[in-house]
Amino acid sequence: MSLEKLSCLYSYPIFSKEKITSIAVLDFPMSTMEKMEERLHQSNSFLNNLIKSAVDGIIASDMTGEILIFNDAACEISGYEVGEVIGKLDIRKIYPNDGAKNIMKMLRSDEYGEKGALRSFRVEIQKKTGEKIPISLNAAIVYDGDKEVATLGFFHDLRETLEIEAELERTNVQLLQAEKMSSIGELAAGVAHQLNNPLGGITLFTQLVMEEYTLPEGAVKDLKRILKDAKRCRSIVKELLTFARKTDNEIHPQDIKLILSQTLSLVEDQALFQNITIHKDFDAPIPLVPVDVQKIKHVFMNIILNAADAMDGTGTLTLSCWVSPKKDKVFVEITDTGPGIPDEMLLKIFDPFFTTKEQGKGTGLGLSLAYRIVEDHGGKIYAESTEGSGTAFVIELLLSPPDMEGPGHGR
Ligand SMILES: Nc1ncnc2c1ncn2[C@@H]1O[C@H](COP(=O)(O)OP(=O)(O)OP(=O)(O)O)[C@@H](O)[C@H]1O
Ligand SMILES: [Mg+2]
Repeated sequence: MSLEKLSCLYSYPIFSKEKITSIAVLDFPMSTMEKMEERLHQSNSFLNNLIKSAVDGIIASDMTGEILIFNDAACEISGYEVGEVIGKLDIRKIYPNDGAKNIMKMLRSDEYGEKGALRSFRVEIQKKTGEKIPISLNAAIVYDGDKEVATLGFFHDLRETLEIEAELERTNVQLLQAEKMSSIGELAAGVAHQLNNPLGGITLFTQLVMEEYTLPEGAVKDLKRILKDAKRCRSIVKELLTFARKTDNEIHPQDIKLILSQTLSLVEDQALFQNITIHKDFDAPIPLVPVDVQKIKHVFMNIILNAADAMDGTGTLTLSCWVSPKKDKVFVEITDTGPGIPDEMLLKIFDPFFTTKEQGKGTGLGLSLAYRIVEDHGGKIYAESTEGSGTAFVIELLLSPPDMEGPGHGR
């Protein structure tokens, strides 16, 4: 018999006062039923494909916490296979530290937008490896009438966005600093030039007086003091001139690990370093980096001395370097276990003459000079610090030679 002729009958009893009074019979030709089933099947598999291939992670669970849906993106972000999750893993394992409980609390409250929904909420999920990663979550409770039957979440990995945000923030700070530097730099250069000649005169004439006259011992002592102070002033002027980029750069490919070790060897015998443990994390192979070796030594030296000062001679100093994933930069990190730098101070430490050291001990030029030198190399320098748990200074140096035509290069 052909399908066209087959029927599919549905019968429904019709009640009146709990008694069946009649029966309604629906008669569909079999071919129509088959088409309807096929369409249902098609739309089901379309929905399944939609969920499976969505770019966002999709996770649904019933109200006991049993996971019902876990799509490909969710697998990729979390590191789980779908077979390890559906019906096997409790949703509380995915959101660590009571995360699932908190999400439910917020979903049920109307303080976080409309009740039963949560939008662009930042939370952590725990990967199969135990690693916690930040995600942005849109979640909803699925209701059947008034009854909660499931929860549904759409999420995406926030790591890249957060990294871009942090990079943007660093660039902003660098821009602000660069602006500040250029105006202070000009002033500094002017003052340094003005001071250079009279200082030369003080030094020269003091020396002449000492050589040409027979002077009492007390006078010689005082003149030596004048010479010593004039020398200190000249070294400050020299630093200011470097800061204002009035000195040449000698850029050649150099071994950064060797420069770090040489810088360290100049200071590690000093009393200040006797109770400081030094770690060198130099395992990664580093190609030669185009730098002015003397100036970069100056940068490392100041950061290392600052670290030792901050730790007051006791703690751990860690030097590490690595190449960026794109292989275009070398990172040098110098970390101490000192008291850290408060947030409001982080914005000032690169300013010329900013110092917290007692008078005569620090001029506050070390980091501003370091900033200028690194900037001249086309690199970046910044500090990351949490008050109470030490400071890390990071120096990024370019692996391809910086523009040699810029100010201060080859002059
Ligand atoms: N590792 C660090 N931990 C805590 N504070 C720091 C650290 N490095 C720098 N600082 C702060 O930044 C200030 C500025 O440092 P910078 O090197 O520019 O000047 P200085 O060390 O005070 O003087 P100079 O280097 O000219 O002798 C320091 O006085 C200190 O307050
Ligand atoms: Mg210093």
